[in-house]
Amino acid sequence: MKSINYLFALLFLCGALQLNAQQITLDVPYVPTPQNVVEGMLDLANVGKGDVVYDLGCGDGRIVITAAKKYEATGIGVDLNPERIKEASQNAREAGVEDKVTFYEGDLFNFDFSKASVLTLYLLPDVNLKLMPKILSEMKPGSRVVSHAFDMGNWKPDEQISVNGSTVYLWIVPEKK
Ligand SMILES: C[S@@+](CC[C@H](N)C(=O)[O-])C[C@H]1O[C@@H](n2cnc3c(N)ncnc32)[C@H](O)[C@@H]1O
Repeated sequence: MKSINYLFALLFLCGALQLNAQQITLDVPYVPTPQNVVEGMLDLANVGKGDVVYDLGCGDGRIVITAAKKYEATGIGVDLNPERIKEASQNAREAGVEDKVTFYEGDLFNFDFSKASVLTLYLLPDVNLKLMPKILSEMKPGSRVVSHAFDMGNWKPDEQISVNGSTVYLWIVPEKK
């Protein structure tokens, strides 16, 4: 866990420096989820036909592309880095799922994910915590949230598993109070 945090900090600094010239400040560095963990996340959320999977900070699009290609879902990804969005769109075309997934350039904090039946995250602990009120107030009760590596503080997960040494958490959005 500690080594993951150091890796994140290092990559975050590199990413911030690299993107500084373009005036983009990322809240999380780009570290792709390994493919077996992607599938562990989608399995844990029991993704299937009819699901709408949103990935906040979608990177190269692998989570929503896998959800479409292997699990027959549709998907939406958002990322602040235009390079990632270009890559994700190209990867969707190559995977033959460009009609089932859409990628947007934008800030995850301003993004409307209320229509997601499944929300996937590989962000950072403080970013998860900042998102939590929006998840609880805007997502439909019964929708699922899965996070790679990082939890959601006091909101205890309904389930958690380990996939090749990575922890994956699942929460079911509760009824509104
Ligand atoms: C750890 S990577 C995860 C990529 C992908 N979800 C995966 O699991 O393979 C985090 C991603 O979040 C993006 N990101 C960082 N800050 C963001 C923000 N405020 N809004 C949208 N995307 C952001 C980065 O560009 C990066 O691609």
